[in-house]
Amino acid sequence: MPASAPTYVVGRREQLADIAHALQTAPLLTLVGVGGVGKTRLAARTATAARGRYAHGAWLVELARITDPAGVTPEVARALGVRERPGSSPLETLRAVLRHRQLLLVLDNCEHVVTVCAELAASLLQACPDLCILATSREALGVAGETVYHVPPFPMASTQEATADLVENDAIDLFVERARTLEPAFELTPQTSSSITRICALLDGLPLAIELAAARPTAMSPPEIARRLDNPLSVLTMGPRSAPARQQTLRAAIDWSYQLLAEPEQTLLRRLAVFRGGFTRGAATSVCTDVELPGGQIDDLLDRLVAQSLLVGVKQPEHTRFHRRPRRLHGGTLFLLNGLIWLAAAFWLQSVVTDPLRLLLLFMSAGASLSAALLANDSPGLAVAGAARRRPHRTRG
Ligand SMILES: Nc1ncnc2c1ncn2[C@@H]1O[C@H](COP(=O)(O)OP(=O)(O)OP(=O)(O)O)[C@@H](O)[C@H]1O
Ligand SMILES: [Mg+2]
Repeated sequence: MPASAPTYVVGRREQLADIAHALQTAPLLTLVGVGGVGKTRLAARTATAARGRYAHGAWLVELARITDPAGVTPEVARALGVRERPGSSPLETLRAVLRHRQLLLVLDNCEHVVTVCAELAASLLQACPDLCILATSREALGVAGETVYHVPPFPMASTQEATADLVENDAIDLFVERARTLEPAFELTPQTSSSITRICALLDGLPLAIELAAARPTAMSPPEIARRLDNPLSVLTMGPRSAPARQQTLRAAIDWSYQLLAEPEQTLLRRLAVFRGGFTRGAATSVCTDVELPGGQIDDLLDRLVAQSLLVGVKQPEHTRFHRRPRRLHGGTLFLLNGLIWLAAAFWLQSVVTDPLRLLLLFMSAGASLSAALLANDSPGLAVAGAARRRPHRTRG
């Protein structure tokens, strides 16, 4: 394991236990989730804890900085200390060496080179009976035999818990811990506690976003941060310089995933910004369809956006309701204006190319869906924490 691998996690007992359990039977386990949800942190902690069970230990290969897919296999070989063999490809050499080793290989951040990671994993697992692979990615590798574990955000403090004196809540613990690294005197008073609970809820319990918000208290009080989170992209901008570039601001975290999308997926994601409170497939189809994005494609595109952790689909009795994470990303006025301008342009275009009856139907259904979406209030319930003095709970490596 590289020395730079993180050595502790706040909370996450249940997830660590589930992952450790799954790893005992799955030759390939992939931790999937939205950017910044804590996949790398959980994988590194799991590997550190489990390395004693593998005769040749646990090895973590950081792939985020590999931009050329052809560089993946050589990078894995380099991290494992496997030397090139004349006349053999890097893959053949790796297969030959790992065939006789019992180890845990962590492929960290596969999303931007997912195809080559999938091929590599399949090839190695087929040749190496005692190899176990733990991958992290915003999207599953899609290999036969892969077990996918969806990493959830931190749970919110429920109203009941929040009124108790000693709330156990990982999101709040992380905020307090990060705030204290920048400002050791940072105090959790009943007032700041209530604002921090609100901040964590507005950020959907997303660890990276919480960490970025916690970098603010030196200049901004928690109540101020909470008030300004209507536009999280402008507030969550002060990550540590030591963090990877994609994790220094919330915008960079989103950009990283956005750049990996195919063009129609990008187009749909932009258009979906008109929805404030989540949306159904029907609403997305009514509102986002035009000559560029025919209605028949919307279902597949929505599923792709879910697969790539850019949307969350919550199954309800009648339909699935989609939203982004954090949900506040829908709320920015700029997003809304963007979406409305697009919508106006789309209707104008439709009026040129379709007959009047179809246009009227489209206008009515889109209008109904849009107003329903704009009026829908999916804001997470805000709990008020009553804890005055709490210490973050850490799981140490
Ligand atoms: N349980 C945790 N305890 C402490 N810090 C955490 C925890 N989970 C996440 N973090 C912090 O949140 C940030 C994002 O975590 P991490 O890098 O593991 O996310 P990720 O899902 O791998 O993101 P990406 O998709 O960008 O690689 C990191 O800075 C990490 O320090
Ligand atoms: Mg990661």
